[in-house]
Amino acid sequence: MAVNVHQFVRWKQEGRAIAVLTAWDYTSARIVEQAGADIVLVGDSLAMTVLGYETTLPLTLEEMLHHTKAVQRGAKQSLIVADLPFLSYQVSLPQAMASAGRALKEGGAQAVKLEGGHAAMAQTIQALVQAGIPVMGHVGLTPQSVNQFGGFRQQGKSPAEAERILQEAIAVEQAGAFSLVLEHIPSALAAKISQTLTIPTIGIGAGAHCDGQVLVTADVLGLSDWQPPFAKSYANLRQQAVSAAQQFCQEVRDRQFPVSG
Ligand code: KIV
Ligand code: NA
Repeated sequence: MAVNVHQFVRWKQEGRAIAVLTAWDYTSARIVEQAGADIVLVGDSLAMTVLGYETTLPLTLEEMLHHTKAVQRGAKQSLIVADLPFLSYQVSLPQAMASAGRALKEGGAQAVKLEGGHAAMAQTIQALVQAGIPVMGHVGLTPQSVNQFGGFRQQGKSPAEAERILQEAIAVEQAGAFSLVLEHIPSALAAKISQTLTIPTIGIGAGAHCDGQVLVTADVLGLSDWQPPFAKSYANLRQQAVSAAQQFCQEVRDRQFPVSG
């Protein structure tokens, strides 16, 4: 493995920014590994971007394992982090341990990511880390709580909410997480959390002052139907793919493909 979880704190100290991309199958894993991503995240965003669900909530652990196995086969040199799906870790500590264990033992991931930083989640993180399972935390807009939030809206706008998210971030670090995703929170709050913590923060929609950044690769490639305003597309592969497929259909109908001989 080219990267291990201990390197990230050092990279933060050295000011080396951490680049994280998601993958969902063998092909996308090959692409992001070849691109040099520091971490390959099998995000539960795959529920929306590749399985067509409206939120991440319906995704099962079995589905996550299926995709993690494919990613593992395509990114053998990378540090692979698998998201734990909604209600595969919130129910009890033994449930969290069993789910995270399957992500490593069956999925081939080297770490898991889970959402939340309240006291019970900090206990879960601590237990997983003690069992030898590296954990990436995730606070701010945690999409598995979309129904609680009443939509995918920015978190941490009021001083009280900002303070709660800061305290959650501290709890996640103290529980032993090796890094922390900050999603869709004000830039100033993300900067404060990044200064306070020793572990690196990985931002998405959280401004420029995080220790690293993550984007959903389907958005980066321009494959998604919809993407959040804070995402950036570096290509427009959907349009190119439709155009290529259209040309094939046209050439078949025009009897131009295959060339007769
Ligand atoms: O599921 C996902 O892709 C994520 C990242 C956006 C952090 O959790
Ligand atoms: Na996720």
